[in-house]
Amino acid sequence: MARLVAVTGCCGFIGRVVTEALLKRGDYVYGVDALTYAADPTLVADWLSQYGPERFHFVCQDINALGRFPEVDAVINLAAETHVDNSLSDNTRFVATNINGVAHLLEMCRAMRHYEIPRFVQISTDEVYGSLGETGYFSETTPYDPRSPYSASKASSDHIVSAYHHTYGLPTLITNCSNNYGPYQFPEKLIPLIINNARNGKELPVYGDGKNIRDWLYVVDHCEAILSVLSSGKAGETYNIGGNSEKQNVEVVQTICDILDEQTGCLPGGQPRRTLIRFVKDRPGHDRRYAIDASKISRELGWQPAVRFEEGIRQTIKWYLENPAWISSVIDGSYREYYEKMYGNR
Ligand code: DAU
Repeated sequence: MARLVAVTGCCGFIGRVVTEALLKRGDYVYGVDALTYAADPTLVADWLSQYGPERFHFVCQDINALGRFPEVDAVINLAAETHVDNSLSDNTRFVATNINGVAHLLEMCRAMRHYEIPRFVQISTDEVYGSLGETGYFSETTPYDPRSPYSASKASSDHIVSAYHHTYGLPTLITNCSNNYGPYQFPEKLIPLIINNARNGKELPVYGDGKNIRDWLYVVDHCEAILSVLSSGKAGETYNIGGNSEKQNVEVVQTICDILDEQTGCLPGGQPRRTLIRFVKDRPGHDRRYAIDASKISRELGWQPAVRFEEGIRQTIKWYLENPAWISSVIDGSYREYYEKMYGNR
């Protein structure tokens, strides 16, 4: 049966894939987005013309300013400040959106007690678990140990979500995912930033010694995991979502260089793109390794990542090469200012 699902952060990188999947399968979406710098505002008109105002309703608002939900069956909360480096220079918006905003959404759900209270799926991060050594994995029972202002804000909201389940019986679910990548990702994150710079023959900033490890999850796989948690996850539970693709950062950057050289030719003079790599000042408090044990979601809900990193990174690079207009549209004056501030004297 078709459902009405509120998707907060519907115009962000992950929100767009989740919203599109819901609309495609016949659900109704109550989309909310404040349309901050990393959101894509063109999506709203596209979805309205493709699906009509009955299937897609849009509210352009900060989640803190929302009045009340219509009678939604579920809420998927993807509204968040997500970039760790930004949280290091100013954590105000992270606290406002990631903590206060989530608390506000939960209160909105609680206020719907005359209807069936919606399932509330909180999209969170593996960063709440802290940093791993060379071995081991984060499981759902790993104690929280957030170490950046960003991850501390996400950890806080996860705790508030769990508290609303225990205290008020709200049917909440939490997902903790690893590093997403894929088309339409804003070029503040490692993969799109490196693709864009490498394409244009610009230096490729790698923090520290480049040996920090992340687990890479293709965004479409992540979206499928979210939808299976939405429909079949057990209220009150947490599910870890990972891509089974641990890589050192420098390895990721070298892979992008090699694929670009292969697909577009080397730089002028036959210079391989790997020569653009620059090891720059490390991120303060940089977590060394993240790795996810995703056996619970696989065992209980039958979800597994379908896209291997080697395939996903090729698809992603292909998409960026074929969509230069999208990149140009996001690399505006404020991005250039951000880039200068973050990398100018690094
Ligand atoms: O693990 C899930 C998390 O993944 C999400 O919760 C966050 O919202 C998301 O931003 C991401 O966090 P990271 O800090 O791991 O992602 P980022 O793309 O910023 O960096 C990936 C790695 O690459 C990290 O070790 C830092 C490094 N890095 C990043 C940038 C932007 C560089 O070496 N150079 C760079 O220019």
